[in-house]
Amino acid sequence: YSQLWLAALVAYFCGCFNGAVIVSKYILRDDVRNHGSGNAGLTNFFRTFGGPLTVVVILTDVLKAIVAILVSVWLGGLFDPRILPTTPLENQAMILVFFKYWGGLFCLLGHMFPCMFHFKGGKGILSGGTIAIMIDWRIALVVWGGFLILAVLTRYVSLGSCWAGASFPFITWFVYRSVPVTVLAVIIGGLILYMHRGNIHRLLTGTENKFTLHKKS
Ligand code: G3P
Repeated sequence: YSQLWLAALVAYFCGCFNGAVIVSKYILRDDVRNHGSGNAGLTNFFRTFGGPLTVVVILTDVLKAIVAILVSVWLGGLFDPRILPTTPLENQAMILVFFKYWGGLFCLLGHMFPCMFHFKGGKGILSGGTIAIMIDWRIALVVWGGFLILAVLTRYVSLGSCWAGASFPFITWFVYRSVPVTVLAVIIGGLILYMHRGNIHRLLTGTENKFTLHKKS
C-alpha cells in the first residue's frame, strides 16, 4: 500500500501551498487571515486586496491541485490491485479514479489545514474545483455549473460553494457507482461543508457577505 500513503503525503504537501497565505504573507506582508472573513482563500483575498496578485493566488491553488492529482494518478498506475483482499475497485481504470479522489482529498486537507501555516488555511473551493475538473468533465459541469449560477445570481460565493460540496458525492455516485470512490467524495464534500459552517450560519441568518471588493482600509 506504499503508493497510497506516498500519494497522500505528496498531495497533502502540495495542498499546503496555500496561494492566499503565501501571496499575502510573503509578498504583501499582510496576512489575509487577519482580514475580512479571515479565510485563506481566493474570495477573501480578492475581497481584501484585489489587484493583479489575485492571479498568482489562482495559479498557486490551481497548479498545486493539478500536481497533486497527477502524482497521485501516476502512483495509482504503480498500484497492484491483486493485493486487495476483495476488490470493489473493479478494474485498473477505477483504481486510477480512486487515486484521483484520494489525492484530491489529501490536497484539500493540506489546503485547509496547512502544517507550515499553523493549520489555518482555506475552504477548498478553487483547489476543489480544479480537482473536479481533473476527475471528470461531467462532475466538473455539475459542480462548477451550480456554483457559478448560484454565486453570480445571489452574489453569495459561499452559497455556490455549498452547492459544490453538497452535490459532489451525488454526482460522483451517479457517474461511477463505486462505493469506495463515493465514500471519498462524501468525505471531501463533508469537509467543504464543514469549512463553510460559519457561512451557512450567516446565510441562514441573513448576515452573509455579498461579494464586493472591499479594499483593506
Ligand atoms: O471560497 C470560499 C468561499 O466559499 C467563502 O469565502 O471568505 O466569504 O468565507 P468567505
